[in-house]
Amino acid sequence: MPRITAAITGVHGFIPKDIITNKDLEIMVDTNDEWIKARTGIEERHILRDPNLATSDMGAAAVMALLEKKGMSPLDIDLIICATVTPDYFFPDTGTLIAYKVGAKNAFAYDITAACSGFLFSATTGAKMVESGSYKNVIVVGADKMSTITDYTDRATCILFGDAAGAILIQPNEKGNGLLDSWMRVDGVGAEFLHMKGGGSRNPPTHETVDKKMHFLYQDGKPVFKAATKGMAEAVSEIMKRNNLSPDDITYVVPHQANLRIIQAVADMLKFPIEKVMINIQKYGNTTGATIPLCLWEWQDKLKPGDKIILTAFGGGYTWGASLWSWAY
Ligand code: UT7
Repeated sequence: MPRITAAITGVHGFIPKDIITNKDLEIMVDTNDEWIKARTGIEERHILRDPNLATSDMGAAAVMALLEKKGMSPLDIDLIICATVTPDYFFPDTGTLIAYKVGAKNAFAYDITAACSGFLFSATTGAKMVESGSYKNVIVVGADKMSTITDYTDRATCILFGDAAGAILIQPNEKGNGLLDSWMRVDGVGAEFLHMKGGGSRNPPTHETVDKKMHFLYQDGKPVFKAATKGMAEAVSEIMKRNNLSPDDITYVVPHQANLRIIQAVADMLKFPIEKVMINIQKYGNTTGATIPLCLWEWQDKLKPGDKIILTAFGGGYTWGASLWSWAY
């Protein structure tokens, strides 16, 4: 029997309409448009302002649009995996809330928390579920309402993040297209440099944790920058080495969008021309779980069956890795 491969067969994004520009941030903190553009590449980010809407609402919107485009019923979905660090609640998980909102009554669901690598890890996990032969229609969602954990008085972090969601459909493929390989790692040494201190079992919420701003994301940017550059370059080169690939064989690299300088440094280290790298950080900033599916959504019309792409990410944890896919449509 031929091996079942698991291919991405659709992608859709959701971007909230409200925008915070660099000029808007100049009024909020001691920063300026030139610094933000030069140090990060970000020009604006979208924010889900409505306090009644949360991460699952953005995820559900992306999934519903994806199903509509594919002409599929929500009843066809077997599994929804949601990558997020800003779940609606600790529990129930956001994947289950998305399944409820879209009417995926025949599905099971769960979340994967791996910070900015969440979508990368989830896509491999979803593909392996399809490869197993047990599940045929798997949806992987990357969704984050980063504005809810961003301290808009901290200029070191508030310039970086935005809100968005992206969803992919993974299905069996008979032509051998789909996930070809993946290489993923974690290292808890990174917890010190990128974390959210409060809210969990170590520092449960109290007046004090709120007063000390422990429910906001904390980042010491410099060490994370260095580790991210090294980590993504390592992951992509491991994947290329063990699959005997050169940059000429790859149509696009799809990096997590945290900082334009990190993306450029990784491309330089791997000798990838920048035209082969998907970059949209200028429009959305770092949307954590959503950056990679948003890139795929924007670039899908430029891809054709058989094109090889490499997804790569680095995030809090540390978590990092890369996966090689053969495009299916
Ligand atoms: O997505 C998950 C993984 N995350 C990442 O990959 C992010 C990694 N880190 C970064 O992207 C960068 O470290 C940042 C963009 C966060 C910061 O850039 P940097 O080049 O590392 O700047 P820095 O933190 O070393 O700050 C340089 C200077 C400092 O001033 P002094 O000490 O040199 O006088 C900062 O106080 O820039 C100052 N600064 C700012 N100035 C204007 C920091 N933030 C700002 C700001 N506007 N927003």
